[in-house]
Amino acid sequence: MPQVEILEQKGYHFLWIDSQMFMWDVPEEFEYQREIARQAHGNVLVAGYGLGVSQKCLLENPRVASVRTVELLREVVDECRRVYGSIHGEVFVGDFFDYQTERKFDCVIGDTWAEASAKHLDEYIRFKRKARSLVKPDGKIIGWGMDYLEYLLTTRSKRPALTQDHNQSTPRPNR
Ligand SMILES: C[S@@+](CC[C@H](N)C(=O)[O-])C[C@H]1O[C@@H](n2cnc3c(N)ncnc32)[C@H](O)[C@@H]1O
Repeated sequence: MPQVEILEQKGYHFLWIDSQMFMWDVPEEFEYQREIARQAHGNVLVAGYGLGVSQKCLLENPRVASVRTVELLREVVDECRRVYGSIHGEVFVGDFFDYQTERKFDCVIGDTWAEASAKHLDEYIRFKRKARSLVKPDGKIIGWGMDYLEYLLTTRSKRPALTQDHNQSTPRPNR
């Protein structure tokens, strides 16, 4: 069973899943998530609940009609309810990559990775593939750290293979 904890420091929250910090709710993260939320409209599907920062920002955008999230871990949702008292939007517990629905969304947002780095490129590629099956033909697919991940994709063949000691991991710019 995963160890999920939200720790508080100086009034901000930090989501730990096992030994990895996945999300924080510091002002800089809100700014970044607001930028993503500003690009969204209509019915939005998000992969990964975290601390619900993106969901809160999306619901503040008047052009967004609804926000549905698929979150892998029930413990994350329970821990957010315990800490914040409520959650933002509709949340389904399950693996985004297995998520099935007849519904098509105006926007699909991916934020399941702990950081934008070369070691998460395969997950990002999988996300885009799955998102294509869930978005309307004229809809939008957005990923956290997408500009950097797309850059890594274009330069992937030129980089040496990753190893444990040399993994070109770059921490999330704002996390
Ligand atoms: C970086 S956090 C999400 C941050 C969130 N968007 C926010 O604004 O607070 C990543 C979340 O994705 C979840 N996750 C990881 N893999 C997943 C998957 N395959 N399907 C659904 N959720 C996943 C993690 O449990 C974690 O809660």
